Amino acid sequence: MNKLIIKGGVPLSGEVRVSGSKNAVLPILAGTLLADSPVIVRNVPDVHDVSTTMELQVRMGLSLTFGENMSIVIDPATLENTFAPYELVKTMRASILVLGPLLARFGRAEVSLPGGCAIGARPVNIHLGGLEAMGADILVENGYIKARCDRLKGARIVMDQVTVTGTENLMMAASLADGTTVLENAAREPEVVDLADFINAMGGQIEDAGTDTVKIHGVEKLRGCDYTVLPDRIETGTYLVAAAITGGKVLIKHTDPRLLDSVLAKLEEAGATIDSGDNWIELDMVGRKPHSVNIRTAPYPGFPTDMQAQFCALNAIAEGTGSVTETVFENRFMHIQEFMRLGANVHIEGNTAIITGVDGLNGAPVMATDLRASASLILAGLVANGETVVDRIYHIDRGYDHIEEKLASLGAKIQRVPN
Ligand code: EPZ
Repeated sequence: MNKLIIKGGVPLSGEVRVSGSKNAVLPILAGTLLADSPVIVRNVPDVHDVSTTMELQVRMGLSLTFGENMSIVIDPATLENTFAPYELVKTMRASILVLGPLLARFGRAEVSLPGGCAIGARPVNIHLGGLEAMGADILVENGYIKARCDRLKGARIVMDQVTVTGTENLMMAASLADGTTVLENAAREPEVVDLADFINAMGGQIEDAGTDTVKIHGVEKLRGCDYTVLPDRIETGTYLVAAAITGGKVLIKHTDPRLLDSVLAKLEEAGATIDSGDNWIELDMVGRKPHSVNIRTAPYPGFPTDMQAQFCALNAIAEGTGSVTETVFENRFMHIQEFMRLGANVHIEGNTAIITGVDGLNGAPVMATDLRASASLILAGLVANGETVVDRIYHIDRGYDHIEEKLASLGAKIQRVPN
């Protein structure tokens, strides 16, 4: 396994280009199964979760070819099987997203139950309940979801918890169903909207994606299209925090400031100067330390849980005391123990971390446990005195496209070394 070695203390400066959104491209790649002709997907990030998804699609018999810069051409017509094996699903929970499309297009699917993961139990009961409401027969045995149906039927589905991939799975299933489906209490994330836009580009009829009530009018078939994935708002937020925590000035390009209003508001509250345009954001924190901020995560448009760990890192060196409350996942504070190894002053009360900024963190060996926790350890290492070594960085490679190259281009002293 590789490690990242970081020498802290360099204020970041320069320009960085954000990649396509991991959490938009994963449902969109699954959604290509709905089409009866080739699909071109552009602005695909070079991250391991995308490679895992492509491996799953190839095992299903789909033909994939790489187009010019960050695009993939997928032909679903060659599909041979509707099986998603445990060995792949256990490495990436988002594999569950093939369930809806396979049922909608082929009437059958056998998908491994995604296990739990570091940040929580992450059940899929809402995914399965919604598919049953549309007429699917679902059997869960030996760790696999075995689903069959004739043509799915439109239904009104009230989801008792806001779930991003649950909303996405059911939106995809409903897109080829007989009749109209209404998803109540739907997730409003930009990635849900991007998926709806993608399905509509294939000839789907989805209305009001981005609100908590999404209507999907089923159609007879969906054809291939040429679609560009939206920018990654979490990667954007991560580099903004990297600039803020190091007291630097960074211009982020190929992004969209409208995707992360709540994050920008918190960074300004922390004392950053932010300017932005249609596809760029500039953050200036030169010569200043951030003020502590209070964070409470919530479904979009609330503060994103995927930015929680990064703001814990910011609070660790800020002026004052900040509280960070995690309301979405039950175990998303693994980074806190590692911050303590770096000298952070933090304690946890229930689902809230109380963090009092210290004058400086001190570099140490730390261990990544999940994707965003890994990012927060790198951010802490960028500002810690001395050397920080982040181990188990396969977590970070799942969702960040060439993170050490991008940070090094901003002046960070960071390198990847084999164990
Ligand atoms: C998506 O995960 C994202 N992943 C996560 O990003 C993100 O943290 C999460 O949404 C919340 O925004 C992708 O989009 C691939 P949920 P998802 O279903 O859909 C409960 C990252 O770092 N729930 O919205 O799996 C669940 O336990 C990753 O990029 C049920 O109870 O999250 C959780 O408490 C991490 N039953 C809450 O809902 C269900 O059937 C929200 O989970 C489904 C979910």
